Amino acid sequence: MTKSLTNARAARKGRQGALSAPVGIASLGAYLPSRILTNFDLEKMVDTTDEWITTRTGISQRRIAAPEQATSDLAIAAARQALERASWPAEKLDLIIVATVTPDMFFPSTASLVQSALGASRAGTFDLMVGCTGFIYGLVMAASGIAAGAFESALVIGAECLSRITDWEDRSTCVLFGDGAAAALLRPAPPGRGLLSFVLGNDGAGADRLKIVAGGSRVPTTEETVRARQHFLAMEGNEVFKFAVRVMEEASLQALERAGLQVSDIALLVPHQANIRIMDAAAKRLNLPPERVLSNVDRYGNTSAASIPIALNEAVESGRLKEGDIALCVSFGAGLSWAAVALRW
Ligand code: ACO
Repeated sequence: MTKSLTNARAARKGRQGALSAPVGIASLGAYLPSRILTNFDLEKMVDTTDEWITTRTGISQRRIAAPEQATSDLAIAAARQALERASWPAEKLDLIIVATVTPDMFFPSTASLVQSALGASRAGTFDLMVGCTGFIYGLVMAASGIAAGAFESALVIGAECLSRITDWEDRSTCVLFGDGAAAALLRPAPPGRGLLSFVLGNDGAGADRLKIVAGGSRVPTTEETVRARQHFLAMEGNEVFKFAVRVMEEASLQALERAGLQVSDIALLVPHQANIRIMDAAAKRLNLPPERVLSNVDRYGNTSAASIPIALNEAVESGRLKEGDIALCVSFGAGLSWAAVALRW
């Protein structure tokens, strides 16, 4: 049976829309740090087992940035690859957005550091902090600007060094995350191609479910907050899990409906890579067979804002996403936020 919104339970409302002119991803690039941290390594660090992590999350290993690397270093490497693949000079970029929850520092923006390294002298830059949903938010913002004629090209980067905000003594979170980055170059596209529709949503009532307590204006960093480990990511995993499963289905159906598509049109679902059980549950609710769902969470863990573009890059490199295919990207994260985009590749 074809799934539609009419048989989903009362759906959360997000902003649903489409662009006024076609804009697409002209190229992608990715960078994953070389150091691999396996579940067996984690067994030596906290009270956990490879068996628990694999069965509860689907994760076997994750990448960890070198001590001298920060988020901008990962972002720059991914950006260079995306620009090279499209033979698009950095000087022609109008906008650089870095989606991240792990900026190099509070300010200046990580996007400013990326701009300088690339030599993108005429680009406007900013960071965007929407947790794991940040890349899709950035994609929609940049694509809207191009569709409106404000920009000719934009680079949207998802980049994270989550290992720097992970509490390596908390087994309930430290097994989940990894570091990485990927970048997408956006340009006007031929009619009928590129971003076909989008959904952006947020439910701030869930803001406490996933956060870093200290270091901001509410609870500035003190010796006490550091001792209490409040500078690390804290999460109510169970609550986020329930929210995620539901919102992944709803946002997917909303994006499809806005684009006039059916689940059967999806060549590849590219979900946020947080937990294989969340992805499997979303695919099952959508009646999508596993071969039409991209999963690389086993190798990279949850890389937050970098997860969707890393997965998209892998889909293109491996030939799983071909010209003319419909891809549906869907994500959830801190906020609690959610987002989806339907794309014709
Ligand atoms: N190893 C062994 N045991 C563990 C571990 C571990 N690493 N972690 C927790 N446990 C234990 C718990 O203590 C608990 O024990 P108890 O029953 O004796 O109390 C038991 O395992 C079950 O714990 P749960 O939290 O109920 O396990 P659950 O099946 O819910 O899995 C998980 C936890 C993996 C975190 C899951 O809830 C999840 O994936 N949630 C979604 C998280 C997510 O996707 N976040 C994305 C946002 S990230 C961002 O925006 C930056």
